Formats: sequence, C-alpha cells, structure tokens
Amino acid sequence: MPDNTRRARDEAFWQTFADRYDLQPGPINLENGYFGRMSRTVVEEYQRNIELINRGNSVHVRQRFEQGESIKIQAQVANLIGVSAETVALTSNATEGLQSLIRNYNRLQPGDQVLICDLEYDTVKGAMRWLAKHRGVDVIEIEHRHPASFDNLIATYRETFARYPRLKLMALTHVTHRTGLVMPVQAIAAAAKEHGIDVILDGAHALGQFEFNLDELGIDFAAYNLHKWIGAPLTLGFLYIAPERLADIDPDMGEMHFALTDIRARTPYSTPNIPALLTLPLVIEEHHAMGGSAAKGTRLNHLRNLWVRAVRELPGIEVLTPDDPRLYCGITSMRFTAQADQQAMVERLLNDYNLFTVVRTGAACGPCIRITPGLTTTADHMKRLVTALTELR
Ligand SMILES: Cc1ncc(COP(=O)(O)O)c(C=O)c1O
Repeated sequence: MPDNTRRARDEAFWQTFADRYDLQPGPINLENGYFGRMSRTVVEEYQRNIELINRGNSVHVRQRFEQGESIKIQAQVANLIGVSAETVALTSNATEGLQSLIRNYNRLQPGDQVLICDLEYDTVKGAMRWLAKHRGVDVIEIEHRHPASFDNLIATYRETFARYPRLKLMALTHVTHRTGLVMPVQAIAAAAKEHGIDVILDGAHALGQFEFNLDELGIDFAAYNLHKWIGAPLTLGFLYIAPERLADIDPDMGEMHFALTDIRARTPYSTPNIPALLTLPLVIEEHHAMGGSAAKGTRLNHLRNLWVRAVRELPGIEVLTPDDPRLYCGITSMRFTAQADQQAMVERLLNDYNLFTVVRTGAACGPCIRITPGLTTTADHMKRLVTALTELR
C-alpha cells in the first residue's frame, strides 16, 4: 500500500495534525470547501507579520517587500505547481485571477462564441456573460448529463465544439464547487485545442487536493486561491499564463506599473495583504512537510469514501458525484430523494446530528447537499454522518 494511502487511514497521525489547529467548539464542520483553516503556527506567524508591517509601514514595504520579498514569494507560489516565477502573478483570490484572464483575453472578435457550463462558479459565469456585452460575442451555455461519466463529459464537449464552430474561448472548472466533480481537464483541453478553442481553467478547489501539471493538462490560462486547501490566510491567490501566451492577455485596464512583458501587469495594481503574503513561506513549508497535495488529497478522498461507500446504495439517498477515481476528490454531494426541500434536511443534519453542511444549487441535475470534510475531520465524524443520512432518508 503506498505511503499516502496507509497514512490516510491512520487516525492517530491525523489527530496529531488536527491538534495543530484551534477549533471553536460547536457543530462538526463538513463545509470545509468555503475556505481552509490556518494552523496555530501560521496564525502566530501571521500575527507577527501584521505587527511587523504595522511597525515598519512603508519603510519596510518599499525597502524590503517590494525590493525582494514579494519576488521570492511569487517564486515559491509558482513552485507549488511546478512552473516558473515569471508565469504567475499574485492576486487576492481565485475570482480576481479568473476575471482578469477573462476580461483581458484579447483574441475575441464580435460574433465569436464563448462557452460555459452549468457547473462553473457564478463569478466565472458572470464574467463570461459580461463578454457578450463588451466584446460582442455569443455565450453558449451547456448542461452536463447526469450522472456524469468520464466519457459523457468529454462527449458533451466534443458535441458542443462540433455544433458551435465559432467557439474561441471556454471556461473549465477543474473541481466544481457544486458537486465536487473533477473534470477530465486533459482530454477536454486536447479536444478544445483541435478546434482552436482556448481554455481558462478555474483551479480554485484543485490546488492542494491533488497534484497536476499544467503542461501535461494542456492549460495555458488558470487561476487559483491559496486560502482553501493550502492553508494560507484569506485574501491570497494567483493566476498563471503560459509564457508563450502572455501577449494574448492585455495589461489589466491599461495597467502601466509593470513592463508589457511582466505578468504582474495582468492583474489590478493595488495594495495587497502584505502580512498575509509574508506568511506564505511558512504556509508552503507546512504544506510540504505534511506530504503536500498528494497526502492531503488521499486523506480527503479516504474520508469521502468512508461515507459514500456506506450510503451510496441506500434507498432515499442519491450520491451525485461518481465513484470513478478520475472524477472525484474530497468534496461530494448528495440529496435525499424523498424530500423536496434539501435546505430543510441541512437544518435537520445540524439540529439533530450537530453536522454543519450546505445546500448547493445551480447544477442542471438539481439542488444537493455538499459534504466537504477537511483536514481536521475524523473517521468518527464520517460515522456520525452515515448514521444521520441512514436515519434521515
Ligand atoms: C470553483 C470555484 N471557483 C472560484 C471560486 C472563487 O474563489 P475565491 O473566493 O478565492 O475568489 C470558488 C470559491 O469557492 C470556487 O469554489
């Protein structure tokens, strides 16, 4: 059994890890998809950096942060996904990165088509629809088949590419926040390339849940946050542009602080959360020390499988996310098939079982309850969830 798989089942190991986090007494949090916790040592480092920047003010920021610290941090962030420092620009979150890429993509002509699906994040959908008004393009919106399979996801895109020959740009979400479905990005990007369609990848939930290589995936444009599965303070993210594609993204709204050849010109120029950025080296060190995305993702998958395997076949329950290991990660959604109101069931889970979950709507297959274990979730929490689902169905 590979190390990560063995370790994923080792509750004692994960308890020592969970002990590094301060938790508020209260419901068992199965909604860890919103944002991640910082470890206690990261919180302390963040507090030290707040004080440092408050004391040093612009003297520290102009003499040290702008002169070298921020460049080093940019390189460390790039290293997280195995790309070079010149291909990433720091942002405040994934949304800022995605919207900058969409807004500044300069290869669209009036009459071109752009593509989104039902599983995209709403701010991405909004930005792609914004292109209709500001670039004169048509927005093609598709819905995925349910249940999803590796083949039908690719087939849906292939059919769409054939049906809409004026498609030039599409959004693709690596891990959808609605159901946790992991998209077969490599195959979809390859099919898109055959039709000359560029892909902007939303990696918000991918980073830290599994390893990937953007070159192998065939992705030229992507954006991420660091405050979900990497464990950074809130307000941190980055975008990626393949070096040979930099000219296809304009400087952001006439941005002039950086040279045309500098990727940093592709994001809004503003005062960042400097104490949070200065905390990143420790965050990244801790991420690697615990085995990085591979170890974290294997643990999250294990917790996911503990509940999914126990309830998948139960009458009254539908698990929306497939069990094909290529298509799932720690986040998985379900619904009570005999109940019309999933929100009422989320309240029952909370009030009767002390389990905190959330309803997600917007997927073509209907509303669902999203279950997202985190790095402090235990096998016992999953047992409690199985009991709750079994009794409530
Ligand atoms: C799939 C997806 N994309 C984008 C975002 C936006 O991330 P951020 O809040 O860092 O802007 C989220 C946030 O939950 C998300 O789930």
